[in-house]
Parts: sequence; structure tokens; C-alpha cells
Amino acid sequence: MPSTPQQHAPQRRPGAVAVPDGTDPAGALDPAHAEVVDAVLAACAGLEGPLLPILHGIQDRLGHVPPAALPRIARALHLSRAEVHGVVSYYHHFRSRPPGRRVVQVCRAEACRSMGAEALLAQARQTLGCSEAEPTSACGGHTVEAAYCLGLCAMSPALVIDGQPHARMTPQRLDTLLAVAPAAEGAPA
Ligand code: FES
Repeated sequence: MPSTPQQHAPQRRPGAVAVPDGTDPAGALDPAHAEVVDAVLAACAGLEGPLLPILHGIQDRLGHVPPAALPRIARALHLSRAEVHGVVSYYHHFRSRPPGRRVVQVCRAEACRSMGAEALLAQARQTLGCSEAEPTSACGGHTVEAAYCLGLCAMSPALVIDGQPHARMTPQRLDTLLAVAPAAEGAPA
């Protein structure tokens, strides 16, 4: 299972900066995205501590949390935009851009790192044309992300591809897994 903010202690993203109130970092929210955000807000109404469930709900539905959605979420929860942005940027789990059609998450927390995870992450990035700065390949086929504990520490190094965990990974097995092409754009998942 991929790491989530509810399950694991978070690590602040390098360079994460809170957006001050009064600025809108991303312009207007796409109407289709607004519909999803409103549905998630409605579904989470009445929850105690609703911000994380809302962010999870939006990312589960859209694959990312659009920056333009943050003011809407802040308004609904009577929070400042900076507060919402601070939470989104705090957790590696949340993306601000849509991912590729296949998502590879390589654990780089301590147990996996000690078993060669950094080399696996570099291998995945190089093979799929991704980097830390540009986690999604230019063709939109793949996203390679670092994860921070997938709950498979006893079987490290571990990674997740499209939600499917793979433990005791080796460079050879990873090569085989990465050779599978992502689904064509528009194809059913
Ligand atoms: S440290 Fe990698 S799964 Fe826990």
C-alpha cells in the first residue's frame, strides 16, 4: 500500500512554501474539477478534521489536487489559503499536477534505502524519462515518485506500480516491470 498522510509521519517537501493569503496561484478552477471538489466537500461535511479526507478524496478522483481548488477548499473550511496550501505541500502524497498513465512509487525511507532503493529510483527515472524535477515523462506515459515507507519494510526494497505493491525488488525485476507499456491514452483502466 502506498504511504498516506494518515498512516505515516510526514516529511516536508524541500522548497515547499506557503502561499500568502490574497494570492491565487493557479487561476480559475476547471468546471469539471470544481464539480468534483464540491462533491468531495459535501461528502466530507460534518467530519471532524476534514481537510486530509477532502484532499485524499480529491486526489483519488482527479489524480491530483489542483492548486486552483485550494481557495475553494479554504473557503468551505473557514481556513486561510496558506493553511490549506501548507498541508498540501507538506505531504509528498499530494500532487499538484495530473500524473502519467502509469505511476511508479519507489520507497526511499530508511529500510528500503539501506537495501538499494536509491539505485532503483534512479533506474526507474532513467528508464522512463522522468526526473525529480519532472516526475512525469514528456509523453505523459509514466510518473516516477519517491514514497516514504510503504509498510513493507521487512521486505525492502519496495515499490508500488499503479497501486500494486512489489517487495524485495531487484534491478532485474524492476527492468521487467518497467518494460510493460502504460495503457494508451483514453483506454479503460
Ligand atoms: S522503509 Fe520502505 S517500505 Fe518501509
